[in-house]
Amino acid sequence: MTRQFELKELIRSDNFIDGQWRAAADDARFAVTDPATGTVIAQVADSSPADARAATDAAARALPAWRDLLPKERATILHKWNALILANQHALGALISLEQGKPLAEGRGEVAYGASYVAWFADEATRIYGDIIPQQQRGKRMTAVKEPIGVVAAITPWNFPLAMIARKIAPALAAGCTVVAKPAEDTPLTASALVLLAHEAGVPAGVLNLITASRDHAVATVADWLEDSRVRKITFTGSTPVGKYLARESARTLKKLSLELGGNAPFIVFNDADLDAAVGGLLAAKFRNGGQTCVCPNRVYVQAGVYDKFADMLSRRVAELKVAPATDPDAQIGPMINIRALDKIARHVDDALAHGARVLAGGKRLPELGPHYYAPTVLADATHEMLLCGEETFGPVVPLFRFDDEAEAVEAANNTPFGLASYFYSQDVRRIDRVSRALQAGIVGINEGALASEAAPFGGVKESGYGREGSKYGLDDYLSIKYLCQGNLA
Ligand code: SIN
Repeated sequence: MTRQFELKELIRSDNFIDGQWRAAADDARFAVTDPATGTVIAQVADSSPADARAATDAAARALPAWRDLLPKERATILHKWNALILANQHALGALISLEQGKPLAEGRGEVAYGASYVAWFADEATRIYGDIIPQQQRGKRMTAVKEPIGVVAAITPWNFPLAMIARKIAPALAAGCTVVAKPAEDTPLTASALVLLAHEAGVPAGVLNLITASRDHAVATVADWLEDSRVRKITFTGSTPVGKYLARESARTLKKLSLELGGNAPFIVFNDADLDAAVGGLLAAKFRNGGQTCVCPNRVYVQAGVYDKFADMLSRRVAELKVAPATDPDAQIGPMINIRALDKIARHVDDALAHGARVLAGGKRLPELGPHYYAPTVLADATHEMLLCGEETFGPVVPLFRFDDEAEAVEAANNTPFGLASYFYSQDVRRIDRVSRALQAGIVGINEGALASEAAPFGGVKESGYGREGSKYGLDDYLSIKYLCQGNLA
């Protein structure tokens, strides 16, 4: 029977290396806190390069045996892991909410979302095909086979503490790679719980290793992986500056990289849009995880003919959103992750107001709830001089920009170094074709605000990074192609 854990049994505070829970080599620890209250939840291992090295040693030792399992043997273990994650959905969801702050319903939803990648890649493990290349010369046979790339380092963000690490580890393990992982310092507990369940599912010692590190130790610790030629791939979700740093520093050992970086997504509402659908889609896309999502719309462009009506419809709905701690069953927006996040949101809103924006809803901190809460906000009359146009706010703020024609909207939408997600609402089939081709983004939502699925390729263009997660393409990032040329055949 699939084992169910109590929440407190899932909370681990040590590193997991070579199948063992171990304190950091120098016994250092750092505090993980609840963003709603500031209460310390656990003191976890604060790793150093020695711990990173121990994790790589274990992963390198475990690689040959894991790589040589039959794909269906790896698939069976991944399916067990998926079943365990789902059997523990409530406890894991509560842990996500506790350390990250998203409402409980969203925490549980994230568990199902993360598990869907594990199930997907368990199946994909059995479909890693190569090719027989049509014969070019008599007596010669040419084939292309796919092999696991080797040891993978996964570095994951705090905004989806379970789903992001699941969608990196699952394809790596399915492909036959072994893994060293470091979750974000704000949310290491969910990642450790996930690793605990992987071990329970039968992932052998050394195949999956996880170390935790504070903000102060993270750079030096990860540097060990960047320099180690046994680590053949880095997969990272996080900011563009950190992605560029990883690309630069791992160049010395020419590692393969998958980088899912910053967004600054545009959301365009044309005069011919179904406005009810557009408001619903924007609410779903923007306020998921309180706006702390790489694919959250950051700039909302509304055509002049529907601007006032749309602004009014939207701000009424936004004003009704319930802001409360994750534990409140009615909460729709929880606390932001930390005070730096709050300060950035406030800076963006203050700057917008100084440049002439008008508050239609929210526009303020909510200190009566705690230091990390910000009211869901709608700002009218946004312009391109404002900070929130050039940078991701990563919070519950919707700036509304006005535009007159399609070319102007597309130009403005693409006028950013980023290209992760983009959205537009229109009922004109010709416009839908034109705009979906013109938008420079890895993902385009057309009359739809909820984009993510384990069956779809997730990733960006331009400075939003490269590589794709999920879908039938998601395994490619963990595989290399070997060409076999057999000669002297009769
Ligand atoms: C992210 O914010 O990086 C991921 C969001 C998603 O999977 O939808």
